[in-house]
Order: sequence, then C-alpha cells, then structure tokens
Amino acid sequence: MCGIVGYVGAPDDERALGVVVDGLARLEYRGYDSAGIALVTADGLETRKKAGKLANLRALLEASPMTAAATGIGHTRWATHGGPTDGNAHPHVAGEGGHEVAVIHNGIVENFAVLRAELEAAGAELVSETDTEVAAHVLAARLREVLAEGLGGGAALAEAMRRTCRRLEGAFTLLAVRAAEPGVVVGARRSSPLVVGLGDGETFLGSDVAAFISRTRSALALGQDEVVTITADGASITTFDGEPVEGSPFHVDWDVEAAEKGGYPSFMAKEIDEQPRAVADTLLGRSDAAGRLVLDEVRIDPAELAAVDKVVVVSCGTSAYAGQIAKYAIEHWCRIPVEVEYAHEFRYRDPVVDERTLVVSISQSGETMDTLMAVRHARELGARTVSICNTNGATIPRESDAVLYTHAGPEVAVASTKAFLAQITACYLLGLYLGALKGTAAPEVVKEVLDELHAMPEKVQTVLDGLERVREIARFMADSRSVLFLGRHVGYPVALEGALKLKELAYIHAEGFAAGELKHGPIALIEAGQPVFVVVPPPASPHGLHGKVVSNIQEIRARGARTLVIAEEGDEGVVPYAEEVIRVPACPPLLMPLLTVVPLQVFAAELAGAKGLDVDQPRNLAKSVTVE
Ligand code: F6R
Repeated sequence: MCGIVGYVGAPDDERALGVVVDGLARLEYRGYDSAGIALVTADGLETRKKAGKLANLRALLEASPMTAAATGIGHTRWATHGGPTDGNAHPHVAGEGGHEVAVIHNGIVENFAVLRAELEAAGAELVSETDTEVAAHVLAARLREVLAEGLGGGAALAEAMRRTCRRLEGAFTLLAVRAAEPGVVVGARRSSPLVVGLGDGETFLGSDVAAFISRTRSALALGQDEVVTITADGASITTFDGEPVEGSPFHVDWDVEAAEKGGYPSFMAKEIDEQPRAVADTLLGRSDAAGRLVLDEVRIDPAELAAVDKVVVVSCGTSAYAGQIAKYAIEHWCRIPVEVEYAHEFRYRDPVVDERTLVVSISQSGETMDTLMAVRHARELGARTVSICNTNGATIPRESDAVLYTHAGPEVAVASTKAFLAQITACYLLGLYLGALKGTAAPEVVKEVLDELHAMPEKVQTVLDGLERVREIARFMADSRSVLFLGRHVGYPVALEGALKLKELAYIHAEGFAAGELKHGPIALIEAGQPVFVVVPPPASPHGLHGKVVSNIQEIRARGARTLVIAEEGDEGVVPYAEEVIRVPACPPLLMPLLTVVPLQVFAAELAGAKGLDVDQPRNLAKSVTVE
C-alpha cells in the first residue's frame, strides 16, 4: 500500500528524476490514487504531484519539467487520510529556508489529530487533510530544534527524523529530503516496508525491491523502528534512539524481465501464464535425488514440530483461501486440527494458542499488516511461527521463526494469481513435512504425493492451453450482474477464490458457496439464467462427494441456472446437467485446486477486459495492504 522510492546518485550524474519515475512505475501496483516527486536541486526543493495514476504525473512533468538533480524521492499513493486529490498527494512540504523538508509516507499516523492540533496551536498552516503533512511539519519543527541545539552536524535531518518517529504512533514508512542536505535521503520504518538497494555509486530506498531491481540486486533489509540515511556511497542505519545497527544484506534473485510485461497485454495475463513455472519453482530443490522431501529451510527443531498438536493458519484474501485448502491437506496428512483464521480477526478474539501450536502465516507480499500483527500476537502467546511468503526480506518472514519461500517471482498485478498457486504448493509441502515428522504420513505416501506434485506444472499448462471456450463465455457474459460459484471439499475455497477474482477485477456481484450449503438458503438466489460455476470433485473422491455435487448441479439446473461446470477429463456424470463443461486433467482430489482455479482466474480477467477495465489495477485496491 503506497509505493515509495528514494534515490541518491553521484552529484555530477543528475538522473534522479528518471530513476524515481522508473521506480514508481514498478511500484504503481501498490497504490494508484496519486503520484508525486520531490527533487533536491541546486536551487532547493522542487516538487510535482498529481491525483490519479502515474500517467497523470508524467503528463504534468511534460508540461512542467523539473530541474535535473542527483537526489529525489517519489510516491504512489493508496489514500487513507484524505481523498485522492492533488492537494493530498505526496510529497508534503513543511518548514522554510534551512528547515524546509519534503516528506512521503506509507502507513497511518494514528495520533495525527493530536499532533495536528498541537501544530496548529503553534501557528503551523496545514493545507491538506493527510496525516503525512502532519508528519512533515513535526519533522520540520524537530529539525529547527536540532539545528538550534547545534546537533546533527551534516546529519541534522536523520536526527530530526529519529525525534519525529519517537513522537509518531501507528505504522509508517517515511522518506524525507531537505534542501540544505543535498545528496541525502533519510528513511524510517515502523511496521511498514522499506528496503535499501546498494548500487555502484548510487543508493536506493524502496517499498520493495521492484523499485530498484533494474539497477541493482544487492539489498539491505531494515529492522523495526530504524532510521536509514542513504548517500551515493551507501547507507547507515540507527534505531529510533540513535544506536547504530547493521542492516541484513540479501541478494534479490528476481530478474528484471519478471517484473515487466514482456509482450503481454497485462501483468495479470503474464502472471496467469507463468503459473506452471511458479508451481515448478516452488517445488524446485525441495526433494532429494531419491525423490524424498527436503525442507531443511524450515529452521524449527524437528522434535518441536513433531510435537505440534494444532495448526492455525493466519492470512487474508486470496492467501486465506490457500490456507483453507491447506486445512484439508494438513489435517489429512498430519491428523491434527487446523484452524484457518482471517488474520484481522485472529488477535481480537482471545485465540487458544500455546507453545504446541504452529501458526502458519501465508502472505504473498510478506507485508500485510493484519497478518503481521497476527504473527506477532501468536509469538506473544508462545506459538511457533512459520511464514509462507513470496517476497525475500519482507517483514513477516523476518519476524517468524521459520520461512518457506514460494518462488512465484514478482507478482505485479494487484489481484493474486501465480502467487496463489505457489502458496498452495508450499502448503502441501509443509503438510507433508509435518506429517512425515509426526509419522502420520508414511514415506511412500509422501513420495507418491511429491511425484504427483511434480506432474502438476504440466497439467496446469494443459488447463491454460484449453481455455479458449472460457474466454468466449466470459466475453459473452460481460453484461452479467451476478455470478455464483459452488464447490465442495477443496473445491469450496476455489469457489470463494473464483468469486473474489470476479468481484475485484470485473466489479460484478459474485459469491462462493459450499455446494452442500446451497439447500440451506442460497438456492433461493437461483432463477432462470443465473450463471453458476460449479467446481466438481473428481469421480474418485472419497465419501461419494462427486455424486453429491452432481445432484447439486441438477437442483440448480432444474431451477433455470446456467451451469458452468469445471470437471475432470472423462467425468461424463456431469454432462447431462451442464450447459458448459470446462475440462481439467485428472489428479488426486487434494491437488485439484491447482487446476480448477485457473479457468476461474481467466474467466474473471477476460470478462473484466471485455468491460474495458484495467485488470492490473482494479479500483480502490492496492497490492500489499500495509494498514490495518
Ligand atoms: C486478491 C488479493 C488479496 C491478497 C491479500 C493478502 O487477489 O491479492 O486478497 O491475497 O490482500 O495479501 P498478501 O498475500 O500479500 O498478504
């Protein structure tokens, strides 16, 4: 939520504007309500900002070019305090003369009303509705104080930032530049993301590494409550109290092409197509030559893991649906209860968690504030924590006892697709690992499932190759007002995910139901022409599940529903009741979600495209929700 870029290059190499705009383009998926830039030029601070997408800022820069500079900051906003207007766009400037600063911000300053009242009482004039402007004024005031005390030397801005952060409550990342300290950007973070990129004679700050991967792969992760000062030569970090600290260096293994569209019409289309690779890469290196599972990276004592008597999965949105799928798999292989909880509900309901509970967080970004808070709460309660995450160096894995990285590569489209498949894959691996440690999953079972998993990338590709009819149906249904989704067993979370994708991409009313729940109420929604997707379990599913779902299809068909059925190749039982059958290859019932969700993703994306909507940047949303 909100993309932040900071840059300092060599003084004679005044390319800050281009680098910052390029970084913003790569971070725009984090928020697109407005965009803005501040440069430290020889004549002082210069800013440009504009409501709407980055394209609007680019147009403004054409109409009103900026002076070349070596130092700059840039922001792309997802609005919290104050609507998406030019005036509320970042940067916000405060102070004057030697105290003048420009500030950009991600997060929420919770005590902003108190601070605003204090500032106004002291005569400050605030012109926006944002908490960011409040932070800028606090910073300018602290800077005045630092300079008056003769402190700070050439590092007055950093000292003022430390003092500012000690006054702020909430979660935030702040970046500031000062006219009187060219060649310096100061950043600070508390529970919001910020990483440093270390280039050759140039240094970067970014909400995530996408901000700078076109220029360097060498990065530093910052800890909680730290202030970083970057110059062209590198970075120095302290705590909010001024204690020097070392950042944690890491290498970014995402390549630049992965963060670019590569000829596709949208990032989403590309990311949907990358799903076989995402599954394959998440499996890569996680079994030995004999095909046995190897998960040494989960650095929790195996004896402790074997003693775990409950798993709680905390996550949000699509990641929560991956968690719901994990529940079926982990309970099956480990014979212990698995609770799946929205992270934002978890810590507010006095959860029953102790040192024998394993809390598994699932987060593509690794920065979702709700999930981060749930992980912290779980640790306070004594639980062991494992993070399933797609983003190296992100906060949630750093604050967890162990991490199992998914290897989906950067996911730029706001709606999650390939990361979801990678998360499900990682959940299977974790379930098998736990089951093996507990002795509830026999080695031959683990091996058999692993073999099946290794066959999945090809099967996902087969699904992708056969979706032309789904695209046609989607285009034909572009005027639909409501679409329902039914599923059972692991097909139920798939139905929920299908509905979420359609809501967020095409702005159509969509709901997912457990097929068995239909007759308890939702069947009242069925009327002639109501489109209903049904995710059918394979005929080989236990407990006669297949037959029960076929009965559900009959029931809704009898009431006039348009039945769009996703079924295994060769499943003829569905044919008499299906208006359309979308085929997926056969695979074990537990692994089906890796296949059945793909047509639903493509359906939603195609329908949104047919409505002329931007599938990469749906309205009101942002990737990486870093506020609660
Ligand atoms: C939907 C989507 C969101 C995210 C959710 C959690 O397409 O992408 O629902 O899944 O905001 O995000 P992460 O996984 O980054 O914690």
